[in-house]
Amino acid sequence: MIKVLFVCLGNICRSPTAEGILRQIVEKEGLSAKIGVDSAGTSDWHIGSPPDERSQAIATQRNLDLSGLAARQTTTDDFSTFDYIIAMDGSNFTKLSAMCPANQEHRLRMCLSYASTIDVQDVPDPYYDGNFDRVFDMITEACHGLMAEIRSTHRL
Ligand code: 4NP
Repeated sequence: MIKVLFVCLGNICRSPTAEGILRQIVEKEGLSAKIGVDSAGTSDWHIGSPPDERSQAIATQRNLDLSGLAARQTTTDDFSTFDYIIAMDGSNFTKLSAMCPANQEHRLRMCLSYASTIDVQDVPDPYYDGNFDRVFDMITEACHGLMAEIRSTHRL
């Protein structure tokens, strides 16, 4: 199984949104037995909490249910479990790099590196600025790009 982990700071806004979006794409394409999706946060601030209500509300508007998810913190074991470890912003990437075991850096990627029409590198943190719609759109584009990359790399 190919395993994808999305990582943000709190694991209640951006990365659970990405988890839900990619899982829905994987299910629609009939690849659930081949591609696994999870998310985590670099902080321990919201462990066990469901996604932020604002993330859930935007997702519901787009026919995506995030209510069953619960936040967890990243662990070094994630680097042996997941093939793709995808940071939402540069700060998440730096923290992941610092905990990454030797020779596992190739697993680390920035989310928006998969979004060819978006010029910025960071998915902005919506927790304070409230721009959940824009974040949902950015992550959706990245998830489609990632799906294409996984399909071509793994010949699915
Ligand atoms: P996330 O957003 O990293 O996309 O889950 C945040 C959630 C919570 C906080 C910051 C960002 N916080 O400061 O509690």
